[in-house]
Amino acid sequence: MTRNQLDQLHAFFHAFTARHFNNDAFVNANLQRKVAHSWRVAGETRWLVNRLRLDEEQANLARGIAILHDTGRFPQFVRYKTYADIRSINHGVLGAEILEAEDVLNAITAREREIILTAVRHHGDRLLPETLDKDKRFFTMLVRDADKLDIYRVVIEAARMYQQDPAAFPYEVEFPNTPGYSPAVFSALETRGKIDYRVLRNLNDSTLLQIAWVFDMNFAPTFRRVQHYGFIEELFSYLPDDDNIRRARRQVLDYITYAGAKRPEIS
Ligand SMILES: [Fe+2]
Repeated sequence: MTRNQLDQLHAFFHAFTARHFNNDAFVNANLQRKVAHSWRVAGETRWLVNRLRLDEEQANLARGIAILHDTGRFPQFVRYKTYADIRSINHGVLGAEILEAEDVLNAITAREREIILTAVRHHGDRLLPETLDKDKRFFTMLVRDADKLDIYRVVIEAARMYQQDPAAFPYEVEFPNTPGYSPAVFSALETRGKIDYRVLRNLNDSTLLQIAWVFDMNFAPTFRRVQHYGFIEELFSYLPDDDNIRRARRQVLDYITYAGAKRPEIS
């Protein structure tokens, strides 16, 4: 993808998101959060593609995917007032459908269009389909890593805000802040298993799930970024301080150090 084509995707993103804002302050605050998130995911992607030494065409494609990956979030929130896919709609599928229906990808080669639609459709899936070819898998893995880096940042900022004054918290809270955590969620973290969103019961479960994402990250620079920001240490600090949690903390932090050092830069 050329720089010019990337600029066109940026212009589309700007116009598309702008038309979802309305006179509801709650909706607007949540939409604005996703606009800012999309740009930061594009920024993380830019950082990652430099470390992965992609050529310019590939780097532009990756950045285009990053800015468009949450296209479905905007109509989702306007329609359902939630970002919880489970209570509304699969935002990846919705995003891909919108991009197919709009003219925005017409100027791009059919191959690149397919890669973008695939990455948008599957960026939030628990498991990637086995059938993806090498490029589709690579670009989908890349946006998933960049997305996670920014979601870590977002959830930590939200946790700090919420702790300061829960009553003044301006965003949607998806789970109740009750004590303890679900044994099923904890054991899935310890065994590096996939956690089903449907078993989450409270904020601690949701934090455990976010910590378990490290086992689903793909590229060595992503692990180094997580380590650099201290995301995982901070997420653990919000959980109950018991033996299980302390043991899991050690395991997860060791894994990040190992993966950041050992995994090949390009898979
Ligand atoms: Fe995202």
